[in-house]
Amino acid sequence: MKIEMYSNPILYNLCTNNKKDDIPFYLYWANHCKGNILEIASGTGRIAEPLISAGYKYTGLDLSKKFIKFSQKNLLKGDFIYGDMRNFSLDQEFDLIIIPFNSFLHLLIEKDMKSCLKSIQKHLSVNGLFIIDIFIPDPEFLYRNPQKKYKEMTITHPTEGKYTIWQTSQFDELKEINHICWLFENEGNDIIYEYDFDMRMIYPDTMDRLLIESGFIINEKKGDYNGDSFNEESPLQLYICSKK
Ligand SMILES: C[S@@+](CC[C@H](N)C(=O)[O-])C[C@H]1O[C@@H](n2cnc3c(N)ncnc32)[C@H](O)[C@@H]1O
Repeated sequence: MKIEMYSNPILYNLCTNNKKDDIPFYLYWANHCKGNILEIASGTGRIAEPLISAGYKYTGLDLSKKFIKFSQKNLLKGDFIYGDMRNFSLDQEFDLIIIPFNSFLHLLIEKDMKSCLKSIQKHLSVNGLFIIDIFIPDPEFLYRNPQKKYKEMTITHPTEGKYTIWQTSQFDELKEINHICWLFENEGNDIIYEYDFDMRMIYPDTMDRLLIESGFIINEKKGDYNGDSFNEESPLQLYICSKK
């Protein structure tokens, strides 16, 4: 059965439960900025929860109505708004705007990336910071055999039992889009769910250009959540930006 992961908070949480390495990074920058925070593509509140618990005034924006409902129900002190990062208007400015965990890579064409950055500009306070977190395209991943399935993770569903998640992918070089499929295999070796999604691969020079053309100053470029500067071995592109 085809599924849409971003309409399924339980499955999404099971698949992202182990992702915790970015939390101290966002808590650090929240403390640095002190003011109110906007998270673009806030999901089910994975990052919202620690920020709200630490006492920050938090707003999350997401395109999934199910995720927004789930967050509103579970994180009463946060403000969760349904909206599209490509064009949003909240009538409010923020001191810290973040777009964590590769969410920006869901924008597949440059026009959408630029309109998202434009909306972010409009909502950033004069001295505010904007942080974007995306991975670096990895040839080992992009040029995998499209016929082969690679093990991604295992999860234990509360009612359905254990699933092994396999991944297949096909990279479109021209469009720089990786077409990815996750196959959820149960203990009887049946594929129960299939989840297709696309991710735009963005190389550092492109991200630099997009930010600069969209009116941002790149204050710092980190290569990991420990705050190491970006270098040839960095797994991530973490941009700390301000308004021009
Ligand atoms: C990888 S998840 C990240 C969620 C959360 N930030 C986290 O770190 O767990 C990507 C999120 O992007 C959201 N999303 C995708 N396209 C979007 C768009 N155009 N506008 C707003 N949210 C979008 C999805 O609904 C999903 O919640």
